[in-house]
Amino acid sequence: MTTYITTPIFYVNAQPHLGHAYSTIVADTYARFKRLSGDNVRFQTGTDEHGDKIVQAAEGAGESPQSYVDRISALFRDSWPPLEIEPDNFIRTTDHDHIKNVQAILQKVHDQGDIYFSEYEGLYCQGCERFLTEKELIEGNCPDHLKPPAKIREQNYFFKMGTYQEWLIDHINSNPDFITPARYKNEMLSFLSEPLEDLCISRPTSRLTWGIPLPFDDKFVTYVWFDALINYLTGLGYPDDEKFATYWPVAEHVIAKDILKPHAIFWPTMLKAMGLEPYKKLHVHGYWNMGEAKMSKSLGNVVGPKEMVEEFGADVVRYFLLRDMSFGLDSSFSAEAVVGRQNSDLANDLGNLFSRSLTMVGKFMDGRVPEPGEPRQIDTALAGACTAMVETYSKEMTDFRFHLALQAVWEVVGKANKYIVENAPWDMVKDEEQKRHLGTVFYYLLESLRIIALAVEPIMPSAAAKMRAGLGVDNRGDLATLAAWGRLAPGTAITKPEPLFPRMEKKKGGQQPAKKEKNPAKGKEKAPEGLITFEEFGRVELRVAEIIGAEKIKKSDRLLKLTVRAPEERVIVAGIAEHYQPEDLPGRRVIIVANLKPAKLMGVPSQGMVLAAKDGDRLVLAQVPAEVAVGSRVA
Ligand code: MSP
Repeated sequence: MTTYITTPIFYVNAQPHLGHAYSTIVADTYARFKRLSGDNVRFQTGTDEHGDKIVQAAEGAGESPQSYVDRISALFRDSWPPLEIEPDNFIRTTDHDHIKNVQAILQKVHDQGDIYFSEYEGLYCQGCERFLTEKELIEGNCPDHLKPPAKIREQNYFFKMGTYQEWLIDHINSNPDFITPARYKNEMLSFLSEPLEDLCISRPTSRLTWGIPLPFDDKFVTYVWFDALINYLTGLGYPDDEKFATYWPVAEHVIAKDILKPHAIFWPTMLKAMGLEPYKKLHVHGYWNMGEAKMSKSLGNVVGPKEMVEEFGADVVRYFLLRDMSFGLDSSFSAEAVVGRQNSDLANDLGNLFSRSLTMVGKFMDGRVPEPGEPRQIDTALAGACTAMVETYSKEMTDFRFHLALQAVWEVVGKANKYIVENAPWDMVKDEEQKRHLGTVFYYLLESLRIIALAVEPIMPSAAAKMRAGLGVDNRGDLATLAAWGRLAPGTAITKPEPLFPRMEKKKGGQQPAKKEKNPAKGKEKAPEGLITFEEFGRVELRVAEIIGAEKIKKSDRLLKLTVRAPEERVIVAGIAEHYQPEDLPGRRVIIVANLKPAKLMGVPSQGMVLAAKDGDRLVLAQVPAEVAVGSRVA
């Protein structure tokens, strides 16, 4: 199978930030996943370098447009390797072959009569670099740039986009995965229920010279979107290169919702006019916000990828971004949330599982993978969970639901941790009868870890490499073969691991990684007496958890020991024994404070707190309906 995955090409009017990094990490992770699945993969990113915005930014920096775009494009290119992003191609719209390609396409579409010259008066938003319709305005302003567009009357060239409206509606309807998630498909279908206007594709050189000259009229340059979208073809050597024939039929684009219309409307109709098949899939994600506001260069509240890597390391940044955002929806970024994930999911759950398993193999098994004996039910259950996880994981990764793929992996991490506790190898070794099973226990643990490492590979390549090295496996090949249970060879030497993820202490004061001053979420401001700031509230990590076990605590009338999934397993001691019977609790979905400092209550370690309402003398658990996924954030 073949995969071609792209990110947007980013404007070079400002420096790279976390929003750009997210799209690029998504595409890189998908590329790695597809490679792991045995595909022939091509992954492309790059920079968009023409247009008004760029000229203004260059002027602002006191540079010529060319030297300015060279400098900022290099900043983008250099941001990706530290995040372990490895594109096969980095394209620039100022590349000579791209300019030639855009001109050849314009000429073809012009020659066939799909481009015409006309006078036009319209509302032009400089930020969007396009004409807006009256309907798009909110109180007279551009909804994205919050400024009124300028009324412009000029002669220009137009692409007959409207001609392709019916075809496009048909195409979207008959290919349900063309635009996903479905909310964005529906948004575009609703937009297409009104007549589709033709697209202005030129700018007079009297107004803008920093663009690709129209091949049929040198008094005009090409509209930046008509130029930019074609990058997806130029990067494949369209029309003659073999790469075009190989990869175009499977093209998938990753974008955020801000550029949905150009990708869902302009681009497919342009392709149709060129006589080409449209791309296969458009994957649309939401915004990373800082507090309430979108992270964006114009708002000055950006977090740079470089600072993120320096603060947390590439693996943690990649894991956090993929785990915390439901693809398609907006998500809120905070350094506290990253530290929370690093400490709980990574250092505590996976890191501990890995290091204690390998340390015990060193101690009890002479540092070698043991020969498994006859498995018991508890062993086959763990193996079954791993196999089922790989299936769920593959499906969710294929469908761009990275958070669910990771949730499935972490459920197995939780099960493997529980498997250690239930077997208690440190006790088994003292008992002649039980000792016989020790080899099986460690074989099953190590084999689970090998499969977890496999699943983690596209998301956290370095951590996966450390796991492979510790387990003495190569794990090279394709997912279907490698995920089969039992590939780990008995006798393989295990290397005592270095910690996969260090625990991160919350620094006093400035926990946020380097950010520009204007960041509204930077909890410096104080709330008035008796109130807390949004930032302060955001530090409380509330999550949906399912109670899976409950028991009384000896010598206490008030306390119950609850085992919950959130989604990782943890024990919480709750003061609800006088209000609930233990047997009535399993299956309930409750809300927990997930980042509370662990404490011991009546000798039982408790990790978190369950929320309950105090109604007179009664305590009533705060519950959520069963359809809310375990682990969901509550805010
Ligand atoms: N140059 C055009 C794209 C042309 S593609 C043929 C452009 N560039 S951009 O620099 O503004 O990048 C927009 C893209 O950056 C978004 O679609 C998204 O991929 C990413 N993001 C920018 N800010 C973001 C967030 N705050 N959150 C998530 N993604 C964000 O538009």
